[in-house]
Amino acid sequence: MSLFSSSISLRKGVAITDDEFVQLRDFIYEKSGIFVDEKRKYLFESRFRKRLQELSLSSFGDYLKFLKFDSNRKEELVKLFELITTNETSFYRDIKQLDAFQANVLKEVIENIRKQGKSEMHIWSAGCSSGEEPYTLAILLYETLGMEAARWKIRITANDLSMAMIQKARDGLYNEYAMKTTPEQIQKKYFTMETGGWRIKPEVAKMVDFKLLNLNDALALKRVPRSHIVFCRNVIIYFDQDMKKKVINSYYDNLLDGGYLMLGHSESLHKITKAFKPVFYPGTIAYKKE
Ligand SMILES: C[S@@+](CC[C@H](N)C(=O)[O-])C[C@H]1O[C@@H](n2cnc3c(N)ncnc32)[C@H](O)[C@@H]1O
Repeated sequence: MSLFSSSISLRKGVAITDDEFVQLRDFIYEKSGIFVDEKRKYLFESRFRKRLQELSLSSFGDYLKFLKFDSNRKEELVKLFELITTNETSFYRDIKQLDAFQANVLKEVIENIRKQGKSEMHIWSAGCSSGEEPYTLAILLYETLGMEAARWKIRITANDLSMAMIQKARDGLYNEYAMKTTPEQIQKKYFTMETGGWRIKPEVAKMVDFKLLNLNDALALKRVPRSHIVFCRNVIIYFDQDMKKKVINSYYDNLLDGGYLMLGHSESLHKITKAFKPVFYPGTIAYKKE
């Protein structure tokens, strides 16, 4: 290889063979339930380029051996999950859905809890990325309960597969991009401006428990406290049919009677389960466990 062509391949990164692609795809699927379609083979090449260089590995075959047999394979899995996940999110993402959720679902759930003479609510944000979704839910609860919020015991469990995202969420500092769909008065009320961005206020932050969790780990899912509401938006799009069924069934088991599951705008329970009752609102469908 000439000096010229080797410098090009270094810049372009290591190419993945069809066989290596299948092996890596199957490994990722087995560990996380994330299924990468063949059409997205290029994604592996671009996302793993830097990692292979850092490890001084010259092929995906060597990387697979590293993932399976190296004494640091556990730590590498954490890195792998960070590389394969797509963490796109923002505060007040899909505002139409959140408006319908707040005016109908949240209102109904709060009313039912009140009728039982209680003031305790649990929400689960599964696949929470860097925290914008669960913090938005905490803000919506503050806005809905008003003065009453102080008397309520509210717990939001927020999980993700990416340790980097969980750390960012716990840190609670966000840039303008994360804020792009946030109403101005909400931004002023629930965030403080600092060098480096906007920090979520402690009274909101304290409602959310961030924890690393793999939705492919059935036992870990069983340990999540029973919920009144489950948010799992823009997560199951990365799973195949089998994995979708597994996680949706575990949300069904986790939900209390009368509880609701909320999915992303491009997701539905079609061909997954008929266990939930779909409730239609302008801008969204809420799935009720009756
Ligand atoms: C596109 S983000 C969606 C974030 C947020 N729910 C929203 O709608 O704005 C998808 C998130 O799902 C997480 N995820 C994917 N597979 C997962 C798994 N097996 N277990 C836990 N989280 C997973 C990813 O790490 C990523 O942060």
